[in-house]
Amino acid sequence: MTLRYLVLSGPNLHRLGRREPTIYGSQTLAEIHAMVAEFAASRGAIVDCRQSNHEGELVEWIGAAGDEGFLGVVLNPGAYTHTSYALYDAIRACDVPVVEVHLSNPDAREPFRRRSCVAPACVGRVAGFGAHSYRLGLEALLLARTP
Ligand code: DQA
Repeated sequence: MTLRYLVLSGPNLHRLGRREPTIYGSQTLAEIHAMVAEFAASRGAIVDCRQSNHEGELVEWIGAAGDEGFLGVVLNPGAYTHTSYALYDAIRACDVPVVEVHLSNPDAREPFRRRSCVAPACVGRVAGFGAHSYRLGLEALLLARTP
């Protein structure tokens, strides 16, 4: 069986590399995707990496993840982390585990970032390790399925 995982990034993450590099680093999202794909391949897995600025599109991708044969989702919801009950519901309703990831550590930033709407629906969270957060999120999902 091929180990397939979905890697989703939310709003404004398409601008990584130019977006507040002191907070988010200098890597582009394409570079992060390449790094995650390389890590996945080293573990015999495949990733499908997508980005959207639209809440509804993220909801649809999460909802379809199980039907599309993905074993789990690595999700950086961007600012929807702090606002979206639609993403919370989508994660609750989907039949595969979702891990929340962030480049920065939202708990160490502005007060509004300390609340995650999606956290209670996710299996866990990796935050504050820059691009490595994506890789660590995928590694957590891979470890979780092989006790
Ligand atoms: C982010 C943190 C969010 O608070 C912010 O809105 C983002 C990026 C991160 O990866 O650190 O867009 O999810």
